[in-house]
Amino acid sequence: MTTAYDAVAVQYQEFAREIWDSDPLDRAAWTAFADFVRGRGPVADLGCGPGHLTAHLRSLGVEAFGVDVSAAMVSLARAAWPELRFDVGSMAALDLPDASLAGILSWYSVIHTPPAELPGYFGEFTRTLASGGHVLLGFFESGDGPVSEFDHKVTTAYRWPLDSLMALAADAGLVEVGRMYREAVEGERPFRQGRLLLRKP
Ligand SMILES: C[S@@+](CC[C@H](N)C(=O)[O-])C[C@H]1O[C@@H](n2cnc3c(N)ncnc32)[C@H](O)[C@@H]1O
Repeated sequence: MTTAYDAVAVQYQEFAREIWDSDPLDRAAWTAFADFVRGRGPVADLGCGPGHLTAHLRSLGVEAFGVDVSAAMVSLARAAWPELRFDVGSMAALDLPDASLAGILSWYSVIHTPPAELPGYFGEFTRTLASGGHVLLGFFESGDGPVSEFDHKVTTAYRWPLDSLMALAADAGLVEVGRMYREAVEGERPFRQGRLLLRKP
């Protein structure tokens, strides 16, 4: 599959290498997620990019593997962590069996998804998660405003009001476990960052 991220995969890997674990609140969110899913089965890092978070989850004792629609991203991830599993695939139709996952990490990977397509993605999350499985979403938040489009270096991206994103997840059968906001840090876009922890009942 060819995607907008193929052309920038190497630059993205360099950018991610420098900043990916610089924020203590982000590290806390991944650690909490790992505590929920560890020892419960496979966990998919969907939209894994160059694979740094898949590898981080592994270092936290999680049976993680990565999936990305960009073949270039997947080949960078495989080169960096040859011992880990990375698949080319889309959240629109995951090549994974029903109820096979203990968890899903979607860290800034649905930010480019047009709002009309997101219910289908969340439906795939619910289909592939086992009962009791967890999802951690990281995204750009838009406060009380509507879903809003913004210019992103790679391709159009969207900011979501946390409550609207939660409502879509609830429509797909997921329940809220917790939520977090943090303000942008230096070097980031001046948008609040949202995190949602969800569970399939
Ligand atoms: C902003 S990057 C985030 C990468 C990584 N999760 C991180 O936090 O650094 C978005 C990633 O999502 C991937 N992506 C976008 N749409 C996707 C889809 N439908 N299925 C799988 N991956 C997708 C892109 O190829 C890209 O690697």
